[in-house]
Amino acid sequence: MSDLREKYLTAIAGAEDEAALEALRVQAVGKKGEISLRMRELGKMSPEERQEAGPRLNALKDEINSALAARKAALADAALDERLRGEWLDVTLPGRPRRAGTIHPVSQVTEEVTAIFADMGFAVAEGPQVESDWYNFDALNIPSHHPARAEMDTFYMHRAEGDDRPPHVLRTHTSPVQIRAMQAQGAPIRVIAPGRVYRADYDQTHTPMFHQVEGLAIDRDISMANLKWVLEEFVKAFFEVDHVDLRFRASHFPFTEPSAEVDIRCSWEGGTLKVGEGDDWLEILGSGMVHPKVLEAGHIDPTEWQGFAFGMGIDRIAMLKYGIPDLRAFFDSDLRWLRHYGFAALDVPTLHGGLSR
Ligand code: PHE
Repeated sequence: MSDLREKYLTAIAGAEDEAALEALRVQAVGKKGEISLRMRELGKMSPEERQEAGPRLNALKDEINSALAARKAALADAALDERLRGEWLDVTLPGRPRRAGTIHPVSQVTEEVTAIFADMGFAVAEGPQVESDWYNFDALNIPSHHPARAEMDTFYMHRAEGDDRPPHVLRTHTSPVQIRAMQAQGAPIRVIAPGRVYRADYDQTHTPMFHQVEGLAIDRDISMANLKWVLEEFVKAFFEVDHVDLRFRASHFPFTEPSAEVDIRCSWEGGTLKVGEGDDWLEILGSGMVHPKVLEAGHIDPTEWQGFAFGMGIDRIAMLKYGIPDLRAFFDSDLRWLRHYGFAALDVPTLHGGLSR
């Protein structure tokens, strides 16, 4: 029996893998294994012989089983060690951008704008893109037959047959979010509202869907001077220049009084735009002091509160900052365009880290 023991323990210790171990197990302690056969022979022995051989066989069987288990564990440990050596990775190395996908300029610029206004204390507000005509028009002091409704090239939604209520619209600007934010938060309030807007228009600088960012600041004594400062700070930070000239041109919007359109000084030398110098002016946004009727629609008392609002085209300032000539290409999902104008996914715009790098 000691040669059996010797034979199996040596073979087990030398087994190279789990399959070899399993073969040895079957051969030794399997149903028809050598040890099992010996056990079956116990029946033919005399009681004295059996008393001596039985316990020894059992002990041998136990010993072989534990040797099998120990060898199996050792093989698994060795395999793990091997794998860890092979898959060793220096996690202190810098990441390798694969440029498999890019951040769309509209997303990038929305993040840039949000970071700049957040720094000035503006929170982000949102509203629906399918909007009631009350929020999109009436609440903004644009009553039913006001010419501004026709000028906006509005997309109207369908009502069910026999439903005479005015149809909803795809919002034509982000200004309805002013009303929703005022109703929800009251005064004082400081929000921006970036998002999609819709107008039936299509050429090199117009697409039926585009993006605006609305700004709204209401407090007890806010004036046009505050508006001017905020916009100057914004334009400097956004175009990443130290100096800008803004020109406020008197204008008209039903929801602001007085109203101004804002231009920035620029030059187009050699076909590239330079902001802050030159003899050209470029219109970038509409703005003004929020009309008392608009404050009322937002449930804010105009005898106590006042403030400014502005609305700016996100796609437009993206085209200016990054020299993108055709707006329509923004929404073509052309991978070559996205690779060219897109931004690396890990370069999140922050004021401290740099907006665009
Ligand atoms: N809603 C206006 C537009 O879409 C922009 C604007 C917003 C003007 C707020 C004044 C104040 O053209």
